[in-house]
Amino acid sequence: MGEMVPAPWGGHLATSYRLCHQVLRSRDWRVPDRAWRESQTDAARWHAPASRQMGATMPMLNPPHHTQVRRPLGNVFDRNSLEEMRHSVEKNTERLMDRFIDELRDGPADFCALVGDELPVMTIGEWLGLPSADYPLLRSLTHDQVHTQELFPSPSQLAISDAATARLREYFTDLIRERRKSPGDDPVSSWLRMWDEFEADQEAADEAVFALALFMVLAALETTSHLLTTMGWLLLSHPEQLAWLRANPELMPGAIDETLRYDAPIHMISRIAPEDTELAGVPVPKGEMVQLMVGAAHHDPEQYVAPEVFDIRRKTAHLSFGGGIHYCLGNALARMEAECVFTSLLRRLPTEELHVAGTPTWQPRVAFRRLGELPVVRA
Ligand code: HEM
Repeated sequence: MGEMVPAPWGGHLATSYRLCHQVLRSRDWRVPDRAWRESQTDAARWHAPASRQMGATMPMLNPPHHTQVRRPLGNVFDRNSLEEMRHSVEKNTERLMDRFIDELRDGPADFCALVGDELPVMTIGEWLGLPSADYPLLRSLTHDQVHTQELFPSPSQLAISDAATARLREYFTDLIRERRKSPGDDPVSSWLRMWDEFEADQEAADEAVFALALFMVLAALETTSHLLTTMGWLLLSHPEQLAWLRANPELMPGAIDETLRYDAPIHMISRIAPEDTELAGVPVPKGEMVQLMVGAAHHDPEQYVAPEVFDIRRKTAHLSFGGGIHYCLGNALARMEAECVFTSLLRRLPTEELHVAGTPTWQPRVAFRRLGELPVVRA
């Protein structure tokens, strides 16, 4: 249909790798921040509580506000922090694999429910020091909240998202109150200390830390779960590549990147034109939204040789973690989780005996991809 496709609800969809890359890397294009949302006439879509809340989180801030929030955080998941986390991610992976292997003995075992959905919430929950009893709640609120970030959410999806956002606000407000009372060595306590230094108003500091903690959870769960489950699906349905991976463990980073290219967890990233401009010869007025269709860009034949072929030996870039100033802060953590899971799977199971039972189904969403289940059997 072309590189720039008019969206039926206004704005455009950019479908080529070239355009998505160009807009992501540009310092001029903006994200749909709170001011932009407030200026929109479609109030149901852009003024709803969940949308307003998203407008206050890091990926929806423009400079200089974005710089003020991101710079003091530094590289949260740098090499040392990741090494500290690795031991517990490996331990949790082994516990999840124990259950997966147990269930495989009695018939199909759902890799999505037993591993893909579990490890990300355990990882981020332990990092933030949250009680494990809260993990199921956080997982289900996250599934519901992300509807607001959909391409064109329905009124009922928006209502679900608003309710989840309100519940998440209560949850994280309580957490911040508790960490103020008894600060510790955890990220939320250290963000509070950091914000108190440059924000005289404690309420404003609490609000900033709330937005950060909320977004870390939203950003980390759906995306990493999708990476783990899809990687399971793609590798098990390409047994010859799984065998290469067993023989050549150094291919693991390539296998992770190829999964991220082939089926990006986030298929679409939104940007706003900073002024009247044009993309691929199509005029885009100032303030118009262009949805960067990353999922489509990853299958652009101008960018990739045989884009429909899943090939873990491919060495090509992708846009799954975005680009430019909003480049994903958690990319190294997500990669580490995938590495732990598939290293363990290869070590503990004769993968040539594993098969996906039936055809997996994706939830009817575009922005945040989600495989509902991945039943696996051992033959
Ligand atoms: C496979 C897993 C993941 C994928 C595919 C992913 C994808 C993305 C993308 C596409 C963006 C850029 C959004 C934009 O430009 O508008 C982003 C930003 C971000 N991600 Fe991730 N993410 C993943 C995992 C994580 C994890 C595990 C964390 C944290 C624990 C995280 C934290 C963030 C943060 C804080 C930002 C905002 C950065 C900014 O605006 O400066 N992500 N992510």
